[in-house]
Amino acid sequence: MPAQPGDAIADVDTPALILDLDRFDANLRRMMAAAASAGVRVRPHAKSHKSLQIAHRQIAAGAVGICCQKLGEAEVFLSGGIRDVLVTNEVVGTRKMQRLAELARMFRDARLGVCVDDVGVVRQLSLICAEQDAELDVYVEFDVGQNRAGVATAADALELAREVMRHPRLTLMGLQAYAGSAQHRRGVPERREAALRAAGRAGLARAALRDAGLPCEIVTGGGTGTFRYDAASRVYDEIQPGSFIFMDIDYARNEADPDATRFDHALFLLATVMSMRGDRATLDAGLKAFSTDSGPAQPTFGGWHLRSVSDEHSILTRIDDSGPEIQLGSKALLLPGHCDPTVNLHDWIVAVRKGRVEDVWRIDARGAVF
Ligand SMILES: Cc1ncc(COP(=O)(O)O)c(C=O)c1O
Repeated sequence: MPAQPGDAIADVDTPALILDLDRFDANLRRMMAAAASAGVRVRPHAKSHKSLQIAHRQIAAGAVGICCQKLGEAEVFLSGGIRDVLVTNEVVGTRKMQRLAELARMFRDARLGVCVDDVGVVRQLSLICAEQDAELDVYVEFDVGQNRAGVATAADALELAREVMRHPRLTLMGLQAYAGSAQHRRGVPERREAALRAAGRAGLARAALRDAGLPCEIVTGGGTGTFRYDAASRVYDEIQPGSFIFMDIDYARNEADPDATRFDHALFLLATVMSMRGDRATLDAGLKAFSTDSGPAQPTFGGWHLRSVSDEHSILTRIDDSGPEIQLGSKALLLPGHCDPTVNLHDWIVAVRKGRVEDVWRIDARGAVF
């Protein structure tokens, strides 16, 4: 472990993920309060944190359960005591479906849901559930503009829902309708409009199911960027935000909606200056400590910029005199560019409060990518 309870941040071994617990608690409280006042359930996406400690805290704060994206994550969360897990993804292939059905059988006291967008998959899932004596909740995934997965029309959603209803091992719960491409539209009007367009489409699919007399108890979707509009849409019953607990550089690029709940950066990466030459500080954290898909991590202090990143190193360059003096051995607190893939690179989150380590949490589903 990179630290022990009671350590000062400066004593944490690096590179290490640091979670500011006061900010994390506040982010969680704010999301739960916003959702409660809008009358929607919160099912946070655990793909962001992959941590049982965090999932249990989210449920204690009022979340109905968690989402995950990978079957391997669902295995970790169910085994760790989470009793309501939705895999917001298609599970395809005999081996994977067998694992899914096995999981549902092992955890009969829990709810386990999965998304479908294909009739053949529904039939195979039903057969495998019968073989395994298992039952599953099923959500028809409806493509609301993400162009990733999901059926494309309300008529297709209805046809698939009808198919699900033919299989007694499968319980039709409703619709999965996640508008991923809307989350990072930078301007408030574009983001709001993209979210409302997605909700409008999801509303059409819900109407098609209900008009045909089929159950559609839950429309679930939405993320950190759009939750306010999703929650107010009267279409979504449940929102699935993930990144709000941490907030990363990429989310900070979204123009803030003055009427929406604000979240603070709570996740940081601590690195050490391992070589110092003039105005060039080489850090002990590179591609294996933070993701760069939304740009590299950046210092939380001024006067320095992180430019060059290689496997185990990155270079801080002085840009002006406004920042701190840095020396060999100095610790640098960075903000990750994109929290989800950064978390997946680490085994531990060092949870700190007011500058002291309170606990060190395992990132239990780290590497659960299959
Ligand atoms: C299906 C689904 N739901 C919810 C989320 C949560 O998004 P965010 O971390 O932007 O809140 C994601 C993220 O990619 C997702 O894929």
